Amino acid sequence: MNGVDRPHIIRKSPWDEARRALAGLPGGGLNIAHEAVDRHAAGPRASRVALRWLGMDETRRDITYGELAALSNRFANVYRSLGVAKGDAVIVLCGRIPELYAAVLGGLKCGAVVSPLFAAFGPEPLQTRINLGHGKVLVTTEALYERKVKKIAGAMPTLAHVLKVDSGEARTMIDAASERFEIERTSPDDPSFLHFTSGTTGMPKGAQHVHGAAVMHYATGTVALDLHDEDIFWCTADPGWITGTSYGIVAPLLHGVTSVVDEAEFDAERWYAILEAEKVSVWYTAPTAIRMLMKAGAEVAKRRAYPSLRFIASVGEPLNPEAVWWGMDAFGMPIHDNWWQTETGGIMIANTAAMDVKPGSMGKPLPGVEAAIAHRDAKGIRWVEAPDEQGELVLRAGWPSMFRGYLDQEERYRKCFAQGWYFTGDLARRDADGYYWFVGRADDVIKSAGHLIGPFEVESALMEHPAVAQAGVIGKPDPMLGEMVKAFVELKPGNEPSEELRLSILGHARKRLGAAVAPKEIAFATALPRTRSGKIMRRLLKARELGLPEGDTSTLEEGA
Ligand code: PRX
Repeated sequence: MNGVDRPHIIRKSPWDEARRALAGLPGGGLNIAHEAVDRHAAGPRASRVALRWLGMDETRRDITYGELAALSNRFANVYRSLGVAKGDAVIVLCGRIPELYAAVLGGLKCGAVVSPLFAAFGPEPLQTRINLGHGKVLVTTEALYERKVKKIAGAMPTLAHVLKVDSGEARTMIDAASERFEIERTSPDDPSFLHFTSGTTGMPKGAQHVHGAAVMHYATGTVALDLHDEDIFWCTADPGWITGTSYGIVAPLLHGVTSVVDEAEFDAERWYAILEAEKVSVWYTAPTAIRMLMKAGAEVAKRRAYPSLRFIASVGEPLNPEAVWWGMDAFGMPIHDNWWQTETGGIMIANTAAMDVKPGSMGKPLPGVEAAIAHRDAKGIRWVEAPDEQGELVLRAGWPSMFRGYLDQEERYRKCFAQGWYFTGDLARRDADGYYWFVGRADDVIKSAGHLIGPFEVESALMEHPAVAQAGVIGKPDPMLGEMVKAFVELKPGNEPSEELRLSILGHARKRLGAAVAPKEIAFATALPRTRSGKIMRRLLKARELGLPEGDTSTLEEGA
């Protein structure tokens, strides 16, 4: 059974059309940065604003497509002068400053593999990712270097250069570099981005993406985000997460629209002011942010007017039906939920502008995307045909932005696929109208404020505290964050639970992992439930925390 003739599958592919909308490199090949910037810079869009940057301190800067082409060429020339060759890894760790965008695009122009990292990560997740990604050049700022990188500077053997974009030396190099650069001849199958994501076990996985993903980003910009030529687009995600790269950098630039970039963190007043003053017409945000806006009250939203706003979309975690209704109240339009993940590279399932939004549903597979619900076990795949029966969400492999591997983890990659279908690790159901509804994760990863957090990475950092023997980490439901990271720790002999020790472990975790990843709650446990083979049973920890049935405990170690 391959699902080809399923009635719910939309078979018309818009990808050929999207491919035709892209230019290709002169002489052949495809490079995201050429499509996103240089082809616009060479035509009538050269003087159009590509990035409208709003600084934390109320400064603002408009960067046109022409300027972005020149600035990214400077970065590309600097990388070249440092010996960056096709396939080398450039890691970008900056806040949302203009240099981040030029550093990323310059890396793509060089044929490098670009990996933007979240500036709120602590030193430990940074070191792990830079080493796993074989980072050769790190682009950062003086402040981030001092706060995060300095501590781990000797522990990243592949790193040959650190470029602090606001320091004298790097600045001189960037300023002296030529504004002309001939883009490396990349093909649609050549690597472009490396985005880290987490699983239940082990350290993060580097999902490898390719230049050909531009086709998907262009297509979904049209179909899922309804981008039109004159739009002012605002994606609130940070480029340290894939939404902030695919839709905060690539998709809007491919469409040649103006993208708003806000350097500051969430603030309800500030966000409403931006929507109004910048005349945002298409806004792509996340459920946690919407819930925080809802908490501030719809009256705050209604103090301003948003005549330019036409389309609101959301991604990354379940969007409560109330949030969709609240959109109607606050802005006079629903919020369009859509679904995808680091591995899919781009939006796969969405409530599009033309559809009736079903509040609480992620929408329907986009044209060209084949989705299904299935169960997989040792015996094979069982397809779910009946409406509303839950199973794993699967996607027919082969869409243009599909990840092409987990770096250095071939086996893990292979296990994601069976019979030509990609298994997402999400549980979902499809209703009789073909709408998909998110049910939960099939694994133990945590979604906190839209950020995917691997429990293993948190447990490893906790166990580096001198008093901690073992740690088990779960996502505890939280009305604002979706889930919050909660840790249970077992102490080494000779240590007694105390408030002081709890704070010491919390402080340790924050310093190592950064505030975005560290646990918000820590509880002491005398004996963490383990399987007979010694693995901590996070599911059981979670069930006990929530007072739910404990489920199958047949593998539980005695006495735990
Ligand atoms: O569990 C799903 C959840 O976020 C996961 C992907 O996270 P990440 O790889 O960080 O990708 C971020 C880019 C979107 C998914 O496997 N998720 C994503 N969108 C939704 C969602 N859960 C519920 N509803 C959504 N719309």
